[in-house]
Amino acid sequence: MRLHHLPLLALVLGATAKHNPAPILPDSLSNELLYLHRHLVEISSITGSELKVEHWLSSYLERQDFSVELQEVSKDRYNIYAYSGEKRATPVLVSSHIDTVPPFWPYYHNKTTDVIGGRGSVDAKGSVAAQIVAVQSLPQNIRENVALLYVVGEETGGDGMRAFSSWDERPEPAHKAVVFGEPTEGKLVCGHKGILGLTIHVQGKAAHSGYPWLGLSANDILSEALSELLKLRDGGLPSSKHYGNTTVNFGKIEGGVAANVVAETASAKLAVRLGGGTPKEVYDLIVKSLANVKAAAQEAGGDLTIERESEGYPPVNIDCDVEGFKRMTVNYGTDVPLLSGDHKRYLYGPGTIFVAHSDHEALEKKELEQAVRDYRTLIVAAVRDTAKAQEVEEL
Ligand SMILES: *[C@@H]1O[C@H](CO)[C@@H](O)[C@H](O)[C@H]1NC(C)=O
Ligand SMILES: *[C@@H]1O[C@H](CO)[C@@H](O)[C@H](O)[C@H]1NC(C)=O
Repeated sequence: MRLHHLPLLALVLGATAKHNPAPILPDSLSNELLYLHRHLVEISSITGSELKVEHWLSSYLERQDFSVELQEVSKDRYNIYAYSGEKRATPVLVSSHIDTVPPFWPYYHNKTTDVIGGRGSVDAKGSVAAQIVAVQSLPQNIRENVALLYVVGEETGGDGMRAFSSWDERPEPAHKAVVFGEPTEGKLVCGHKGILGLTIHVQGKAAHSGYPWLGLSANDILSEALSELLKLRDGGLPSSKHYGNTTVNFGKIEGGVAANVVAETASAKLAVRLGGGTPKEVYDLIVKSLANVKAAAQEAGGDLTIERESEGYPPVNIDCDVEGFKRMTVNYGTDVPLLSGDHKRYLYGPGTIFVAHSDHEALEKKELEQAVRDYRTLIVAAVRDTAKAQEVEEL
């Protein structure tokens, strides 16, 4: 049961209940949650430098009687895989990431407002702490069916989750359901947009700006290319009812060296968020829209090339069939599509994405507490569901 059923109770109990609402979690669990969350946020773990928080978290999990395994992703960077029973390959996996975006912001807990902040407090250490406390507080017959996976590198392309997908010691048989943690405002996410990362490189020819005909301005060519893309993104890219329009962000533009020099090189980094179609389709549309600019550049002795940062992925449908949750779709990318295999997948977490990468990243204590209850609901539903699917005894 979710807490918004409680106003009825508050009505019955009168004014005192309003000032002292029934606790979301018992004190012992709430304290454990805040302790775990505080330690995770206090230790900086910007992508690439996750080692210290991994040490702390893996010894915490060992103290809690989990079996803990580390998977090396790259030098001094490890995914943490943990389980609490005999089974290493559990039907249900609960996962999130332990890296954060830069810069580090220290932890704080305002006891007056019960607002808790700091880098990672929302994205995604709020999810990590709530997931672990949720699993800890489940009965053993459920808990032994659940493993935990905390990956590195989510914020910069997901090398941690990719490494887990291709791990030669990946638990077999594969998990049947996976609960992912990212800030979703406590709602169940039914899907998110796809992504495609591109860099446009332009090669020109340097010259004195007083004699521009002696050179070929890479900046001019890039400007023409971007103006084609502005036209293309105004209705020329795939969309869908569910995920809306494909958007193109010109995230970083560079070119030239000085005002009085014809630019020799220029580049633009683009993040394309797919509302429909596939990365291949969108890539082809972009290539086509820039074909004339490219041909003209080549004819003049320069060039324009389009580099794909990675495979990308199309919009991602996510299961949201558990009762009692509000639902939504989101526009940000996650590790969800990077975990290979055929499994049900859920995406849920405390806090809002709108503060996640900001200098005021924070959430309320009650959001964290509610997340523990919601994760328990999701995990229990997933364990029952996978047990039914496998026709093993009813839990
Ligand atoms: C807590 O938040 C309140 C309300 O915003 C503010 O007045 C107070 O100064 C804060 N306390 C601390 C210790 O920052
Ligand atoms: C999607 O793109 C179309 C065409 O450019 C535009 O009319 C519409 O307002 C856009 N929808 C949203 C939600 O931005």
